[in-house]
This record gives sequence, C-alpha cells and structure tokens, in this order.
Amino acid sequence: EKGGYDHFMLKEMNEQPEALKAAITGRIKNGKSILSEINNLKEFITEKLRKIFVVACGTSYHAGLTFKYFMNRYSKIGVDIEVASEFRYMNPHVDENTLVLAISQSGETIDTLEGIRIAKEKGAKVITISNVFGSTIPRESHGAIYMNTGPEIGVAATKTYTAQIAILYALGAKIIELTQGSNDEIRDILKGIEEMPEVYKKVLKLNERIKELAREYVKFQHMMYIGRGFGYPTALEGALKLKEISYIHAAGYQAGELKHGPIALLDEQFPVFAIIPKDSLYEKMKSNLMESKARNANIIAITTENNNEISQLTDEYICVPQVHEALYPLAMAPVIQLFAYNVAILRKLDPDKPRNLAKSVTVE
Ligand code: F6R
Repeated sequence: EKGGYDHFMLKEMNEQPEALKAAITGRIKNGKSILSEINNLKEFITEKLRKIFVVACGTSYHAGLTFKYFMNRYSKIGVDIEVASEFRYMNPHVDENTLVLAISQSGETIDTLEGIRIAKEKGAKVITISNVFGSTIPRESHGAIYMNTGPEIGVAATKTYTAQIAILYALGAKIIELTQGSNDEIRDILKGIEEMPEVYKKVLKLNERIKELAREYVKFQHMMYIGRGFGYPTALEGALKLKEISYIHAAGYQAGELKHGPIALLDEQFPVFAIIPKDSLYEKMKSNLMESKARNANIIAITTENNNEISQLTDEYICVPQVHEALYPLAMAPVIQLFAYNVAILRKLDPDKPRNLAKSVTVE
C-alpha cells in the first residue's frame, strides 16, 4: 500500500505529478478555467459578490493565503483570510454579498465547520475545497470542489496542499472571468499549471541534493523561513512541515519583517531558509539575505534555475525550473516538503505519525 516507499508521506510527495493532474482534469484546459462546480453560484458571483473570505487551518490556511496573493494581484474583489479557530469567535464581517471559501482536506475540521455555519447564518454563500467525498464541511456548503488526489494517509498534508493551490487558482480565474472578463496573464498562469506535472517530475529528482542539505542542517535547533509576496505562504508552510514532523523549532516570516524583531534571533546557530525565486521581489529578498548573512546565519535558498549570483548570497541552494511568478508556490512546495521529510528521517522519527497530531481534527 506504500507502493514500495518507506513512508506514506514519501509516496504522497512523489504522487504530486499525478495528483495535480487529477485535481485539474476537467477544471483547467488550454489555459481556461472550466470549473463547473460553481455553476449554481454564477448569478451570485456576477450580481452580488463583493468580498471573498477564506477560512481554513494549518496547511490549508497556507494554500488559502497563496490564493489571497493571487486574487489581490489579479481580481477586483478583495480577499480576506483568517484561521478558522479565530474566524469563528471574531464576529467576522461576512454578509449576503460574501463568498466564504472553506479549505479542508479532511472536510471534518471542527473549527472550519463551525466557521462556515456562522458564515451561513450571516447569509454568506459557502464553497468548500476538500479531498474527502461526502465529508461534513462540503456537505454543508452551497458548492463543493473535490480535489480528486486520492486518499492522503500521512498526517502531514503534501499532495493535497499543491492540489488545493491549483484548484484555488482555477476557481479564482473563473471568478475573475465572470466579474471582469478573461485576460492573457491568467491564461498563462493556468497553462503553467497544466505544465506543472512535468515540472514536478524534475523537482522531485532534486531529492538526493535535498538529502545532502538535510544532513548538514539536521544539527540545528531552529530554522527561520523567509519569503515575500507569493513566497511568504511558502515560507510559512516550510516552517510548519519542518516543525510538525521533525520537531525542530521553525517559524516563517515575511522577509521585510526581519528588521522589526526576528533578525535579533539570527546567529551561526540559527539558520535561514529563504524562498527567493527570480520574481518581482527578488532584489528585496536579496537585501534580506545580505542582512541575514551579516549576522553569520547559515543560509539555504530555493531559487530559480540559472540564478548565477545565488552562490555568493547563500551557503546552499536548490533551483527549480522557471515558472510564472504566481506558480512558485507550486513549483517549490515539493522542496520544502522533502527537506522536512529528510530531516525527520535523519532524526529517526516517523513522519507519517508525528506525535500529538491527528489527520482529522474533529475536536476543538
Ligand atoms: C499539516 C496539516 C494540518 C492540516 C490542518 C487542517 O501538514 O496537515 O495543518 O492542514 O489540520 O486540516 P484540514 O485541511 O483537513 O481541515
């Protein structure tokens, strides 16, 4: 059942080319979103929609945050996001002009479920993205989009995270098309998602190199993940993966926030893991790496292929193929996942069953 892999997590990370393909089949074609699951909400979207509010926990929240960056850049409709355990107790500003987007792999997370119940009472429409057919949250929603990635057994979310991002982009593209018309850049991004399974085959081959990095960095007690823009949710997800399966203290920060506090932590014992694709914020990230280097922090970076100066800025680096700026969260996800996995293995931990965690969080 592990298909020859040592762990479900390793199997599921390696399934990402097929899982992503399954997630977008019938939803993205030739750069166009053909998502039909929201057909019953078309009128609501074109006539009433004023705001989108994303509600999710953990890794699903990080997928949602990536969607927020996407929509803020390309859509006229604003996106708010809150973790479900906060949303449900905060008197969230949602009404009959709001689309609440619940993201839950299991479809059973209690905080997310209670969140959508509150949203519905306030008159909002709810769409859920889930991987478990017939689970409670999608059943209680006005629309459900199932990821179709096949079951995820490892406690750490991997293939469902990348599937979530791909589906969120397809959904976002559909909303943009309905509310403001289609555009070429969105088409390029969706085409890039259709090519992502091939990109994944290349990225997954980096595992031997990632293992080497894990061997060098397993000795540290801490790791600071940093990113900007689309790289920021990836930094958060990298930190979550590392802490949950390797029990190494890790935190993700917006790189621009370093000088407002976190940089005080950095020294030769506290390394940085930088998400630094060649994108519109590249030069800004570069300055943040220099600041970190000046504190003697060791630096690992994930960047874009053919970045000739990265070796001067970092101690170690990994390159992924060049993709559209909005797609680095997808292209880089397997790298942060594999890094956490390899560190856990070196620490002799079982990544499929991290202590104190459950696959489905049905209690508060
Ligand atoms: C991390 C992880 C958790 C879940 C979170 C939400 O790897 O798996 O952070 O993402 O518990 O779960 P779902 O998506 O089932 O609502």
